[in-house]
Amino acid sequence: MKITRILITAAMLAACPPVGAATAPLAWQNKALSADARADLLVSVMTIDEKLVLVTSYYGTQVDRNRYRHPDARRQSAGFVPGVPRLHFTPQWQTDAGSGVATQGIAVPDLQRTALPAGILTAATWNPDLAVKGGAMIGAEARASGFNTMLAGGVNLLREPGNGRNFEYGGEDPLLAGTMVGAIVRGIQSNHIITTVKHFALNDQERRRTTVNILVDEPSARMSDLLAFQIAIEQGNPGAIMCSYNLVNGEWACQNPWLLNKVLKGDWGYKGFVMSDWGAMHDTVKDALGGLDQEAGVQEPKDYVYRDKLKAAIADGRVPIAVLDDKVRRIARVLIASGAADNPPTADNPIDFAAHAAISQADAEEGIVLLKNEGPILPLAGSARRIAIIGGHADVGVLTGGGSAQVYPRGGSAVQGEGPKHWPGPIVYAPSSPLKALQTERPGAKIDWADGSNLSAAAATARNADVAIVFVTQWTAESLDFPLTLPDDQDALIDAVARANPNTIVVLQTGGPVLMPWIDRVKGAVEAWYPGSNGGKAIARILTGKVNPSGHLPATFGRAATDWPRAEIDGLQRGKDEIFDVRFTEGAAVGYKWFDKNGTRPLFPFGHGLSYTSFAPSGLKAGAKGRTIQASFSVRNTGRVAGKQVAQIYVSPVKGGWEAPKRLGGFAKLALAPGQSKSATVTVDPRLLGMWDSRNPGWTVAAGQYRVTLATSATDPGSSVVVTLPASHWPAGRGVAK
Ligand code: GLC
Repeated sequence: MKITRILITAAMLAACPPVGAATAPLAWQNKALSADARADLLVSVMTIDEKLVLVTSYYGTQVDRNRYRHPDARRQSAGFVPGVPRLHFTPQWQTDAGSGVATQGIAVPDLQRTALPAGILTAATWNPDLAVKGGAMIGAEARASGFNTMLAGGVNLLREPGNGRNFEYGGEDPLLAGTMVGAIVRGIQSNHIITTVKHFALNDQERRRTTVNILVDEPSARMSDLLAFQIAIEQGNPGAIMCSYNLVNGEWACQNPWLLNKVLKGDWGYKGFVMSDWGAMHDTVKDALGGLDQEAGVQEPKDYVYRDKLKAAIADGRVPIAVLDDKVRRIARVLIASGAADNPPTADNPIDFAAHAAISQADAEEGIVLLKNEGPILPLAGSARRIAIIGGHADVGVLTGGGSAQVYPRGGSAVQGEGPKHWPGPIVYAPSSPLKALQTERPGAKIDWADGSNLSAAAATARNADVAIVFVTQWTAESLDFPLTLPDDQDALIDAVARANPNTIVVLQTGGPVLMPWIDRVKGAVEAWYPGSNGGKAIARILTGKVNPSGHLPATFGRAATDWPRAEIDGLQRGKDEIFDVRFTEGAAVGYKWFDKNGTRPLFPFGHGLSYTSFAPSGLKAGAKGRTIQASFSVRNTGRVAGKQVAQIYVSPVKGGWEAPKRLGGFAKLALAPGQSKSATVTVDPRLLGMWDSRNPGWTVAAGQYRVTLATSATDPGSSVVVTLPASHWPAGRGVAK
């Protein structure tokens, strides 16, 4: 026994260098130490050249534009940061993005991966636990493919309904978007990898995204886009933040001291690192001092601001070495804290695609929104013996969004040759056919198909059926913005079918809100967004009632483009290098808040979603809990089938004074069997009860009465109670992740 103890003691002493000795180069690997301590130890033994290695990420992509690819990057990947072999410190292998492992616009047969539905669909589930599962799945595929950094977590608010990247994000409300994206981030990072939250900040349009200068007052920014980021960071604890291409109040986001040093790292106490969007760096000293920790999208031998240029700036005193040390420490710390540094990933590991497809399908089934159900025409009656399926390539697949987030699903694109030949095209359809899935669900039904290219053929097909289902698509993509009208005359297709058969249902696959001039002429409408690798099965199970829809809109669907603050997104007429202003005159009144403020009746409101059963909310109680509000209530399933209801709590000051009449203060999604009742309690984040106060940085909650409403959408009057609150103040950085 004694010998053993002596041996153990000797082993422990060997592991820890004698006091006073030079720190052994690998002391940073001592897992008994905190990530902070280990990062400090690592930085303390690095040479300046080794430090400079960590702050530059190289392109990992060889595309048809013959872009440079770092030789050690994973194939068709977004980025690569060499490690420090002498110190056994890991490289960073970086991949896009929010729906799974993307391959930079090129289909690579052995790099096809599972496509999670688009971020806006996951937001439409209002189910953070499900979002964690989806994030965990795509993070597992990233690690299995050799990546330790996933560039996901897009959370830019849906201010512009035509923004080409709305599909990637979490909708128009800071609480919902931040909560749902934070959940995806938690899921991804459960795989000993890190991910981002992006694009910081106010990158709410794609047209001329590298030269648009967003003008917005601080209170409005703090209570809208920045609050979405703050909540996503608090709840997701992302290893990195990706700063965006645009300017904010006259300064590039990636060298914006207010945005990066004051708000993110100062007020919020963020301890991770800031990486640029790809090529979004501009100036060595301004970027270094402005808070950019890692430049990304570098190609040999150009397009970089750090490396020898930063070394020279340090040598001549324009940038203190401590600034570089802080950057390196932040990068090292999160790679250590996440487990990525101690568990370097290898490529080409086995993936359980069947299990992952089921996770993707489960997400889709909870995020598809039943918008309209007159009759009810849905779920499809068992007596529907002839079903016409028309348009949207529904015979072969479901739509996905374009750009860096493009996942090439297993089986490859079900449609070839559509959309732009080059990035962000071509248009990719996941090979999951709604028609085939419907046939499986309804083997006894006769299903007729028309591709929708010929209106009279489509009408004829519809005329002979008991029910006609028109699939319409709106492809959206990074770097582009889009009109709200469905493209390719699909409105006319719907009209032709509806004229031929009154029992018409429309299934939409869009990246966000679209206009629906035909809505009164159809009986049913379903928003399926971009439903991922098993989207066809999910749609069929919803249409047939195998699954009761429980998605709720994360964004307002208006009746006209003029319902929103800007009917047209500026940028199309701008020169390539022209810096131009877009002023967010709506301030923090984004989405339903804008509609409420202007008394505009939406086509379908934020939070809207129908079910095949019915629910009765009741027993709303609310009161002050400390200095905030806690509400409790019950919901009963009063119908005959199981279902899930999203109970929404809205808050509003009885005397007004906010940017808009009300705000979403909380929500709960409840799964209920027929006749079952459940209760829930929601505690309102105090920042949603206050106004940002620049004089006393933080949120000031005015003393007075606040109305608490339990509703099922932003236009549902629901039931409400009034709560009296004392005055209070909440600091700027409340609750930031540790
Ligand atoms: C792109 C995107 C960003 C992506 C990155 C790497 O320009 O804006 O979301 O992660 O570059 O592909």
